[in-house]
Amino acid sequence: MTKTWTPDSWRGLPILQQPDYTDRDCLAEVETRLKRSPPLVFAGEARSLQAKLADVAEGRAFLLQGGDCAESFAEFHPDNIRNTFRVILQMAVVLTYGANQPVVKVGRLAGQFAKPRSADTEVKDGKELPSYRGDMINGMDFSSEARVPDPGRLIQAYAQSAATLNLLRAFAQGGYADLREVHRWNLGFVDRSPQGERYRDLANRIGEALDFMAACGITGETAPQVRATSFYTSHEALLLGYEQALTRIDSTSDDWYNCSAHMLWVGDRTRQLDGAHVEFLRGIQNPVGVKLGPTVDADELIRLIDLLNPKNRAGRLTAIVRMGADKVATLLPPLIRAVQREGRQIVWACDPMHANTIKSSTGYKTRPFDRILREVRQFFDVHRSEGTYAGGVHCELTGQDVTECTGGAQVISEQSLAARYHTHCDPRLNASQSLELAFLIAEELKKERLEAARVAAAS
Ligand code: PEP
Ligand code: CO
Repeated sequence: MTKTWTPDSWRGLPILQQPDYTDRDCLAEVETRLKRSPPLVFAGEARSLQAKLADVAEGRAFLLQGGDCAESFAEFHPDNIRNTFRVILQMAVVLTYGANQPVVKVGRLAGQFAKPRSADTEVKDGKELPSYRGDMINGMDFSSEARVPDPGRLIQAYAQSAATLNLLRAFAQGGYADLREVHRWNLGFVDRSPQGERYRDLANRIGEALDFMAACGITGETAPQVRATSFYTSHEALLLGYEQALTRIDSTSDDWYNCSAHMLWVGDRTRQLDGAHVEFLRGIQNPVGVKLGPTVDADELIRLIDLLNPKNRAGRLTAIVRMGADKVATLLPPLIRAVQREGRQIVWACDPMHANTIKSSTGYKTRPFDRILREVRQFFDVHRSEGTYAGGVHCELTGQDVTECTGGAQVISEQSLAARYHTHCDPRLNASQSLELAFLIAEELKKERLEAARVAAAS
């Protein structure tokens, strides 16, 4: 029998990737303060996201999840938030147009501050220090002072998340996301790139369609979908003390919701069946995700689904597959077959970033753009041949003109990575590369649609 879940039932279970706080009293004080602080999201919003993800699970919508690998205190600036929001909107427009179906937009934003690391310590010039674990925990500077986990950072992360979310809500609802502004989202360096030109072309066609609709009486005034959009937030539920402090009973349903974001996921490194992270996620009613790397097997996946989505509700669980361009074609089919055989409803999303990371000859952690594209293409190919739905992508991206991933139409070389390498953790797609990826996915979605029509016509 499953044990009763409570927001703190994860405590005492095996737990990985947690900081070693020295000042436990200060940590307890901070957690108490957070418990009294307002929730960042409302449970009803998490339910509306789950309903949209149920459409994705059933093949009627597409999930676009993206944003920073690690948000940082240093990069906190309204322009950065706007630029990331803007590129996600642009990608969504490309996908909606290509796929002829709604795109569910979920940011890795407003709370994505804690990072799992491959090693507990980092060695530089013979000096060993605790690893950087994200701005919510310690500082990136390579000094012993910066690397001490500081509970005060939880408050700063909460405050930054609140301000970020406030601006995102204003952009989504206040006019910035109005479809009649579709041309204006193509500003700055993207406008001059080949992707920018392709986007402009698409924006013109959308503009014409909107003029036609306006002539028929459908405008932003009569149809709110033209004027505003829905935008949701997500992050990895890694630092469980913080997540617990923001987990509340929803007065309308009497259920527990984590009110730090609409959607939470468990990382590939912390998804142990008997571990604290899975325990925590199983009890919150938000839609949740699980990252699946090359070490997962079909039995383990079914057991994870049993724990995280025991009622088999569509939209509750998203499998975020990150196998790598060389492995996805062999490792994904057995997982899909097991899920089909057991009749489980999940969303399948592709994270083409995390298993395609390499070290460049110039010493930077990078991701070759062609490998990212290859993993996405193969993810779609596998789903087409299994007769299942490739429902989404999960990317690390930014609206800034960074040089962190090599390749793409701008042909970023290993030598030019140093020019604008700003990430606090993993390399992100810049706005131009993100758009390029969106155009490729739109083509794959079109193929998927044609194939579905062919199967329907034949049956
Ligand atoms: C991440 O999404 O930043 C991450 C660490 O991913 P994964 O758990 O897939 O390694
Ligand atoms: Co990452």
